[in-house]
Amino acid sequence: MCGIVAACAERNIIPILIDGLRRLEYRGYDSAGLACLPADGQLHHQAEVGKVADLVAALDEKLAAPTGIAHTRWATHGSPTRANAHPHVSSDRVAVVHNGIIENFESLREELQADGYTFRSETDTEVIVHLLDRALAAGQEPLEALRATCKRLEGAYAIAAIMRDQPGRVLGARLGSPLVVGVGVGEHFLASDAAALVPVTQQMMFLEDGDLVEITRKQVKVHSQDLTPVQRKVRISSLPADAVDKGPYRHFMEKEIHEQPEAIATTLNAHLEGTRICPSLDRSLLKRVRAVHIIACGTSFHAGLVARYWIESMAGVPVSVEVASEYRYRRPAIPDDTLLIAISQSGETADTLAALGRSEELGYLATLGICNVPESALTRQCDHVLMTRAGLEVGVASTKAFTTQLTVLLLFTAALTKARGGDARLVHKMLEDLGHAPQQAREVLAMDDRVQAIAEEIAEKPHALFLGRGIEYPIAMEGALKLKEVSYIHAEAYAAGELKHGPLALVDDTLPVIVPASSNALLAKLVSNLQEVRARGGRLYVFADRGVDMAAHPRVEIIEVPAPHSLISPILQILPLQFLAYYVGVLKGTDVDQPRNLAKSVTVE
Ligand code: M6R
Repeated sequence: MCGIVAACAERNIIPILIDGLRRLEYRGYDSAGLACLPADGQLHHQAEVGKVADLVAALDEKLAAPTGIAHTRWATHGSPTRANAHPHVSSDRVAVVHNGIIENFESLREELQADGYTFRSETDTEVIVHLLDRALAAGQEPLEALRATCKRLEGAYAIAAIMRDQPGRVLGARLGSPLVVGVGVGEHFLASDAAALVPVTQQMMFLEDGDLVEITRKQVKVHSQDLTPVQRKVRISSLPADAVDKGPYRHFMEKEIHEQPEAIATTLNAHLEGTRICPSLDRSLLKRVRAVHIIACGTSFHAGLVARYWIESMAGVPVSVEVASEYRYRRPAIPDDTLLIAISQSGETADTLAALGRSEELGYLATLGICNVPESALTRQCDHVLMTRAGLEVGVASTKAFTTQLTVLLLFTAALTKARGGDARLVHKMLEDLGHAPQQAREVLAMDDRVQAIAEEIAEKPHALFLGRGIEYPIAMEGALKLKEVSYIHAEAYAAGELKHGPLALVDDTLPVIVPASSNALLAKLVSNLQEVRARGGRLYVFADRGVDMAAHPRVEIIEVPAPHSLISPILQILPLQFLAYYVGVLKGTDVDQPRNLAKSVTVE
């Protein structure tokens, strides 16, 4: 889970590599490096521990080259040190950057050591550069040498390589990790993500698994694994060049929280066509669905948990939801006509993709991907896709991806209910409530001053407990995840009814207990659970919608979420909890956009 960028041009590509790395930094940010072929005919390479800014500070300002590769790393094999940072170099003539994991690196390392290669790092990547060097030294042509190298690799990779004796040429390959070619005018680029390249070109060619690519200034040649030339479509990226700008905001997370009303509206428009809901989904397929399985990780998993309440209660279809990392190693029993839904912002999450990869063998009716990144592996792997239209999400903590996933999942519930001949009034209500979502989200987001004040109190605490009942339980889970990842405060989420089965022992007057509450059928039950906390001196912060009357409950901090209870309550309830995590993170001085130890997309197991 790293970012790769490479370029071949007439002009100096160092600023392009650096800008590309900054745009890819969300993918990993514990070290960064580059290699290039300047006019002196040598292979120059440099890497630094830390962020791209640390690399820039260390680079010679005069460094210039027309060809180069660069990398920003999220450590898997080997800690974040300069020796482990990419690029890795062999015999001073080949340099490689890599995203992914080479599973058989230990046996390859032994073989290469026996052949006289000295390893300088603890990484799996270093075997790639020595394999490539060995093939080139044996006289193979660059592309043939790359093919021979890739044939030896087990695992996942996106690779970019330059060779001292091949100025003006970059080689690339992908299997399981993304790689896109940017097609310019008299210049070409490679990157892990189109966002890295939009300032230099909007024309993108998304490579497929097994592709090998060679770029020069003048051409792009793509080959399949047996070196047969293949054509890949050039698509125009809709990402604006300023997609990776914070605008007037201090952090991407703050910007992305505020972008939610617009993102929800755009997502709704994309999946409604007159009276047709999710028109891209085949009605006859929906009619056949008798069960739904949902797989996802992290925030996307929480979206799946919310959807279970909607789909079961409104479409009457049984749903199971599981984290992909567990599901992929289970032998699940699949009822007939079960639809598998995979949810992923990035469409790159290794566990989700691996779980999805079992769908055929397990005999699902069909697969449906809910994803935010067009052309991602997930969208290619699924039979059907409903895109969220959140736009580029840069902050590692997922915010607008979550609320747009919920939007799509409620639309899907409506389409399924309708196709199965369910209650037409209920379908109408779902669409009506969804129609109000952008405006209501705007109103909820206007309450951030109140949340800031509470953040001051939470920031002092080492722990927090989140409680929820019914459909608010996954919202409590998502609120706790946000607080952990952004502020490093230990936070746990519990179903409020479970309190007395253990977690109540944690409650004393130092523990903040944070509760999203809706005026739904479970409110009275929730209020009883809150009494249990209050009786033990716990400090309660209840984010309650307009219908919740808690005036009768002293020592409870009620924060009114300015919206009535409706089917979209979960979409609105998460907003103040995102803000809370954000402000606590800011107060604690954490790196809210790039929290320690994390990366935006987890492309390794
Ligand atoms: O791209 P995905 O939705 O598949 O990512 C899944 C998780 O890695 C992701 O949601 C993660 O939990 C976020 N950092 C949470 O904010």
